Amino acid sequence: MKGWLITNAFLHTHKFSEISLWLIEAAKKLSVELIAKTNAEVLVQLDSDFPNDKRLNQNGKPDFVLFWDKDVRLASFLEMKGHLVFNSSRGIAVCDDKSLTHLYLQGAGIKMPHTILAPMTFSNIGYNNLEFLAPVEKELSYPVIIKECFGSFGQQVYMADNRQELEDRVLSIGARPMLFQEFIQSSKGKDLRLQVVGNQVVAAMCRYSGNGDFKANITNGGKMRPYEPSQKQMDLAVQCCKILGLDFAGVDILFGENQEPVVCEVNSNAHFKNIYDCTGINVADSIIEYIIKRICIG
Ligand SMILES: Nc1ncnc2c1ncn2[C@@H]1O[C@H](COP(=O)(O)OP(=O)(O)O)[C@@H](O)[C@H]1O
Ligand SMILES: [Mg+2]
Repeated sequence: MKGWLITNAFLHTHKFSEISLWLIEAAKKLSVELIAKTNAEVLVQLDSDFPNDKRLNQNGKPDFVLFWDKDVRLASFLEMKGHLVFNSSRGIAVCDDKSLTHLYLQGAGIKMPHTILAPMTFSNIGYNNLEFLAPVEKELSYPVIIKECFGSFGQQVYMADNRQELEDRVLSIGARPMLFQEFIQSSKGKDLRLQVVGNQVVAAMCRYSGNGDFKANITNGGKMRPYEPSQKQMDLAVQCCKILGLDFAGVDILFGENQEPVVCEVNSNAHFKNIYDCTGINVADSIIEYIIKRICIG
């Protein structure tokens, strides 16, 4: 069996390259040849039958494409050309944009923090009127969480304690899409990461900031410990993946009032090094096993 591993040509840090190595290694263990290519090598050439990479084409069409990138135009193109792409372009696109994740999940009745999307503006104009912040502060009350719709590792998630901080943050984010969210106080500085592969939770950890920060991301200085999720938490994570059409994902769950699970976000390309360090479970193995099963059983 042979697959392509598509990654981003412009992310060079160890954090990203090690994910590729782990996936290739996991594939090798199961006699799957995983050929690494970047999105800059497999250009979307709309009028061609195949992506314009001679080496890939010489080797013939792969059995699957493991798409470890967010270049959803390329993912859609590969799907259009009849490739079996994991995760699907739609799943990746909906997860990449936190506002779309909320729209789809809340629309399907999943419990998430109360959320208001910022009205869209244009980069050459920005927000020249902030009146829309009045209902935001009234509905959500302070502290308000502000998230850029496109962001990772907690780096584009902020908190505002008053109107001035809210306005300053909105103006500094500018025209980049953002949303405003209720702060789940009972989950301050802690959350769960449930790793789902093929409708099953394969690993779970609890993350906690330990330094007073409201964000629990490990990249942000958070700590982690293995966690035994409840059936309700597991069902919720699997249900999110089903709704969003994801074969695998890292689902972040907050602790609501009375321990009620509240979905924070879903990561289609969740890094799995931390969860391995925490639990000893190699999610790369589960992903490759799942893909083999999907291809063999259908
Ligand atoms: N509404 C919220 N209430 C409480 N904590 C939150 C809320 N939203 C996010 N957080 C905290 O901030 C962290 C980062 O937010 P998240 O939406 O997962 O963004 P990222 O994609 O950057 O990880 C979460 O892991 C959680 O600890
Ligand atoms: Mg997160």
